[in-house]
Amino acid sequence: MARERWGSKLGIIMAVAGSAIGLGNFLRFPVQAAQNGGGAFMIPYFTAFFLLGLPLMWIEWAVGRLGGSMGHSTAPGMFHTLWPKNRLVKYLGAVGLFGPVIVFVYYIYVESWLLGYSVFALLGKYNSCTTHEAMSGFLRGYQGLAKNEHFSSLGPAVGFFLITFGLNMLVLYLGIRRGIERVCKYLLPVLGLFAVILMVKVLSLGAPDPSRPEHSVLNGFGFLWNPNWASLKEAKVWLAAAGQIFFTLSVGFGVILTYASYLTKKDDVALSGLTSAAANETAEVILGASIVIPAAFAFFGPLATAQIAQEGAFNLAFVTMPLVLQKVAFGDLFGFLWFALLFFAGVTSSISLAQPAIAFLQDEFRWPRLRAVSVFGIVTFVMCQACIFLIGKGVIDELDFWGGTFAIVVFATVETILFGWAFGIDKAWAEMHHGAAINVPRFYRWVIKYVTPTFLLTILFFWFLQKPVVRLIDRAGEVGLARPLEVLRLWGTDLAVLLWMKDRPVEGLPYVWGIRGGLLAFFVGLIVLIWLAWRRKRQVEVVA
Ligand code: PHE
Repeated sequence: MARERWGSKLGIIMAVAGSAIGLGNFLRFPVQAAQNGGGAFMIPYFTAFFLLGLPLMWIEWAVGRLGGSMGHSTAPGMFHTLWPKNRLVKYLGAVGLFGPVIVFVYYIYVESWLLGYSVFALLGKYNSCTTHEAMSGFLRGYQGLAKNEHFSSLGPAVGFFLITFGLNMLVLYLGIRRGIERVCKYLLPVLGLFAVILMVKVLSLGAPDPSRPEHSVLNGFGFLWNPNWASLKEAKVWLAAAGQIFFTLSVGFGVILTYASYLTKKDDVALSGLTSAAANETAEVILGASIVIPAAFAFFGPLATAQIAQEGAFNLAFVTMPLVLQKVAFGDLFGFLWFALLFFAGVTSSISLAQPAIAFLQDEFRWPRLRAVSVFGIVTFVMCQACIFLIGKGVIDELDFWGGTFAIVVFATVETILFGWAFGIDKAWAEMHHGAAINVPRFYRWVIKYVTPTFLLTILFFWFLQKPVVRLIDRAGEVGLARPLEVLRLWGTDLAVLLWMKDRPVEGLPYVWGIRGGLLAFFVGLIVLIWLAWRRKRQVEVVA
């Protein structure tokens, strides 16, 4: 079976940029920036970009192409290629299948809301909701969390989910070149255009309420970008920046490994990796930052906007923006552009989340694509039901934490250390520059070998060692050493809140533990699949 290939260099750059440019750029980024110091957030953000995001981008392009040349599209085979003497390292690759599948499961459901809302916008279905409460009620009705005059059942949500899910499966079934590449090549320019139109519209709003001239778009930019330098002293701001960089660039998941595995050995990775990262940053820092927050500010002013940003990305997308766009001329059309923009951005991301698991079945079990896509479709479809029917129980948060935050840091650490140390930085550097269209600055040799892993290990250290560290501090207090260690306590506490997310209502806890049990079982299942795949390979070799 010949390996699938990208049709062109532009094709794969569009596909990787399509994966990277997603809901993260238009919703998650502005919320994170507004909550974590405004303009000052750009310091940890770009630090994380240059020391984590960009190096990981290059690592994933290089490792992916290398793995593809050995017939592997996913982390288990690639980790084995980087460190062939170690028989266990391939099992760590399970994390690179786990993360994308888990994020896919909830991401695609949210994506389907966007499709639903694009239709509602055109039909003017939510226009009767003119207050924050009414519009949230509409959303809760759609999600099945409340029964009201807008929705009496989950029917519409399930319908749009089925369409979205089916569309994704179709693209995946059509494959790399005819499916993924083609869709990204068309959708990315369209979503870029929609984003520019919306940005220009927002910029032209000025101060929509003449009686309150201080509520202007310009002041909205000030609200978002004026630096709060004190925030730089908080650990959580640095963590938020690192988390945003991973999420927005799609690095640390394992998805770029898979896309890059369809390159040929002579293709460039250095310039292509840089180009896709730069495209994402433009979409994020310029377009993403210039739509929701300035628009919300112009209509609702500073206090409400701060409150809205606290309530998170979903509210901004599904409650605030529809309210804002109702107030402008041709509001239904702009509402449609907004939801269609996000829907397209979602599609080009969700297909990239699905491809690793599908490619694993194709490459490591020699399954035909139809069978791989069908099995993937059935398994994830079942998992999605938890998101649809248990949405009020914190399922999405739980999946996002384990699949989209925890797994990522673990995976990025493992891949960076394998590349820079087990494979060796000399070979790694040569691999990155094979067929390269640019020279990566030499200082990145040192960043990849020392700085990126140290940065990642620091994050992991505080995650795992929070409790022992705090105990240590308490003990140290008894002998007068508490001061210097106090800093550690500050770091640690933030992370513990993250890990144990302890703002949950108690009734939800059995569900949370149920979901965690399910996730664990899924992870163990992946380990077993890797074991089976390699056993099968050995048997095939013996027969040959
Ligand atoms: N980068 C995407 C976004 O910004 C999210 C994503 C992560 C998609 C990982 C694919 C893989 O929304």
